Amino acid sequence: MQKEVVLSGIRPTGFLHLGNYFGAMRNYVRMQNEYNCYFFVADWHSLTTHPDTKELQNSVHRVLAENIACGLDPEKVSLYVQSDVPEIAELYLYINMLAYKGELEKVPTFKDKVRLQPENVNAGLLTYPVLMAADILIHRAVKVPVGKDQEQHLEMARNFAERFNHRYGEVFPQPKAFNFSHDLVKIMSLDGNGKMSKSENQMATIYLSDDDELIRKKIMKAKTDSGPTEDNSQKPDYIENIFTLMSLVSEEDTLKKFEEDYNKCSIRYGDMKKQLAEDMAKFVAPIREKATAIQNDKTYLKKVMSKGAAKARESASATIKIVRESMGIKY
Ligand code: TYM
Repeated sequence: MQKEVVLSGIRPTGFLHLGNYFGAMRNYVRMQNEYNCYFFVADWHSLTTHPDTKELQNSVHRVLAENIACGLDPEKVSLYVQSDVPEIAELYLYINMLAYKGELEKVPTFKDKVRLQPENVNAGLLTYPVLMAADILIHRAVKVPVGKDQEQHLEMARNFAERFNHRYGEVFPQPKAFNFSHDLVKIMSLDGNGKMSKSENQMATIYLSDDDELIRKKIMKAKTDSGPTEDNSQKPDYIENIFTLMSLVSEEDTLKKFEEDYNKCSIRYGDMKKQLAEDMAKFVAPIREKATAIQNDKTYLKKVMSKGAAKARESASATIKIVRESMGIKY
């Protein structure tokens, strides 16, 4: 039986953090044995917000190295850089003709970015979801492991696929966001303000490159409060986030103890954060060390990129051939 096709990407706009790991990369690693996987660095996407390319090469290398350090095996998956696969740009062009200005202007991530960078509302920013759809559809992927923040983009990719199929014939399957548990993951920022992200409050974001001391410092500063006053009360979202992080890196018994303390109103957040800091430092250290070693091995990275691109282009050019034929672009 043919393996299902999986695709996902990460923008090289800064160091990767726990949100990227638990929302996306952890799933990549778990999927690599069972599926036909394509994972890539979305360098074209990063140009919509980061037009200065001085740091780009370094960031692309870092993202590749961090993916491999987290357990991705470039022999099992295609690990490539978006700009090495020009077929994506061709498909992006075709899908642009099926995407409406009105629907693109309504996308919440577009509106957020207009607010964040009013001086640079470029067309690439508006058509960001179109490029993302092209990334996915170019391999006719069906499962897309992403965090919760990408849900709406996936819905748009499904709409564009359906519109294409309706107009030109069945070419694309419907891609779905994927996570091993029921819900997509959202790791919040440690200051309780929105999601953990690459470029906002850096002291509230734990990067896979942070050293032990910095991790301890950040976790001890995480937002808490004076604790619950009623047994079994609901947790505010910033407290829930600390429990989520603990569930991801600590022993089950440790988490259980703090859950019980919380439910009995006897929780001491200082103790909980100290424990979490130790467990987090232990979790991040091997990834950090491995990533740095890989990042410094430029010959190896070049090999990974060229092998990944060759595999991705094979699949992408097969899709473009079918797309052109179904569109009548065959003279
Ligand atoms: P990016 O680079 O912002 O994030 C990469 C992956 O990490 C997930 N993620 C999170 N998950 C949980 N909690 C968080 N705080 C958190 N922050 C980030 C994201 O959901 C994502 O899975 N548009 C994409 C890149 C992209 C892409 C694609 C993804 C381009 N083309 C095609 C999938 C398929 C992005 O900006 O991800």
